[in-house]
Amino acid sequence: MTRRLDATQSGIATAASILRAGGLVAFGTETVYGLGADASQPQAVARIFEAKNRPRFNPLISHFANAQAAFTQVVPNAMAHRLAQAFWPGPLTLILPRAPGASISDLAADGLASLAVRVPANATALALLEQADRPIAAPSANRSGRISPVDAAHVLEELDGRIDAVLDSGPCTVGVESTVVDLTDPNTPTLLRPGGITLEELVAICPHISLPQTTSDVAPHSPGRMVSHYAPHLPVRLNALQAQPDEALLAFGATRPTLAPLVWNLSAAGNLEEAAARLFTGLRTLDREGQALGLRRIAVQPIPQHGLGRAIQDRLNRAAAPRPQDGTEDMAP
Ligand code: TXA
Ligand code: MG
Repeated sequence: MTRRLDATQSGIATAASILRAGGLVAFGTETVYGLGADASQPQAVARIFEAKNRPRFNPLISHFANAQAAFTQVVPNAMAHRLAQAFWPGPLTLILPRAPGASISDLAADGLASLAVRVPANATALALLEQADRPIAAPSANRSGRISPVDAAHVLEELDGRIDAVLDSGPCTVGVESTVVDLTDPNTPTLLRPGGITLEELVAICPHISLPQTTSDVAPHSPGRMVSHYAPHLPVRLNALQAQPDEALLAFGATRPTLAPLVWNLSAAGNLEEAAARLFTGLRTLDREGQALGLRRIAVQPIPQHGLGRAIQDRLNRAAAPRPQDGTEDMAP
């Protein structure tokens, strides 16, 4: 049985003690719900992979209550300090060299010489991290390859019975995962994953950030970048100008007449923040209701490619990518 804990003092205290004892607790962040475990206990980390049904070990992001705690595990450079100052707490993950004596287990880091660290902007998550008082590894709290959860009900749809508890802090406000920036080579800061901090915001602090040209550039270092991910059961058709009668429509912007019997508008006002926050719930809803109606596909209208539009399009590209066999993890390209 998975316990549902309220975001109260006692719920947070219970969640922290489960984590300290090596258990699994899903908790809300501003981006998506994470499936948390003590990153320094290999057995606890192993349970994350088991619960998510990941056949292989991927490096995980460790979460902290503040930058000072994060920087005990890694060796920060000047740019890391500047980005942390600008964006933490917030949807930014930094990849940095592992500090000598860091407690994060090799299993959480996939044996790499670098570690991924972040300070989430969610009051309940920060209280939990403070009380747990250790690095908390947390990938998104979904079955491997599936749509990331943005509320506690989604987590239970994915993982009920497989994890100890979910700490319910309500819906996530950002709705797409953190932006991942590799700072291991201080001369070449590199964007590994577009996310909740936009490229425009990053460039204001880090003007020379480099953007890998293709997924395969970063895939070996950042396995979460594998092609098929965020996948609903129904196939996804991108850049659809019009939908067919056998399609569910994921729309963006002012509503136009459509043949689609089922529509989820990400943002009728054309607002990308609203669209990001509604993305994963929209995919989940169209998938469930579309299957119930016997529809064959999800058609997606074009998304503007600025601001959070890049992170949204990245997730949609992965949702539309060729799938591995059912039940297996993201396929290497
Ligand atoms: O918003 C988020 O980041 C959420 C919430 C729960 O914090 N977490 C999340 O974790 O999205 P996950 O495991 O789904 O994605 C972690 C990403 C992957 O792309 C992974 O490959 C990359 O971070 N990563 C982790 N450690 C890395 C490392 N040492 N070098 C390069 N990439 C790394
Ligand atoms: Mg994920």
